[in-house]
Amino acid sequence: MTVGCSSDLEGLKEIGAVVREAIARAGATARPGMRTADLDEVIGEVLEKNGARSAPKVTYDFPGYGCISVNDEAAHGIPGDRVLEDGDLVNIDVSAEKNGFYADSGASFPLGRVSMRARRLCEHTRRALERAMGAARAGAPVSAIGRVVTDVARSAALRVIGDLAGHGVGRALHEEPSIPNVPGSKDVLHEGLVITIEPFLTTGAGRIKTDPDGWTLRTTDGGLVAQYEHTMVITRGAPIVVT
Ligand code: CO
Ligand code: CO
Repeated sequence: MTVGCSSDLEGLKEIGAVVREAIARAGATARPGMRTADLDEVIGEVLEKNGARSAPKVTYDFPGYGCISVNDEAAHGIPGDRVLEDGDLVNIDVSAEKNGFYADSGASFPLGRVSMRARRLCEHTRRALERAMGAARAGAPVSAIGRVVTDVARSAALRVIGDLAGHGVGRALHEEPSIPNVPGSKDVLHEGLVITIEPFLTTGAGRIKTDPDGWTLRTTDGGLVAQYEHTMVITRGAPIVVT
């Protein structure tokens, strides 16, 4: 969507705050011995308490409130009986709707004594998001975002998962334009446009496949994955981050 008035921005900020709280609460709760379904319950409680609905549930009939992806799972992990272990890298991605407005955010949480590799992967992926947000302003090409993400990955000897991208958001979970994590888009950012930026970096080669469950996206080589995502409104200066 394109933000047209202050009530649009208020609506986005309201659902953005709910999504932020859900991720923070689930992330703070996560510890070895818990099931991913237990984290999902925390997400569901926060959404319900705030009168919000899970966007993947209402949009795609996803079997969970949020997506919880562990280690080599890149995205769309289904919450369930999997028990989290010391050293796991847990990605929590929450998108939700309230009053017709949608926001989408995600973060990776290292659990307990994680490897240096995993910690480093998180650091650089977070930096890729921050740097990409710095390149996102009205008039800039969408490909500037992919270029920054690719540069950060390359300089850290990591790879981008090119099949996963950010997207327009606001009145639906997934809107135009696509915001790829690699250069090549011909689109240009305009003032008021609402997008997500969500770099996916990996310690492996960057290829993914879908599990037999039909949802979980997993690296083909067992490479670890980190993702950080925010929903933001494009301006002539720094974007307005609503998550
Ligand atoms: Co997301
Ligand atoms: Co997204």
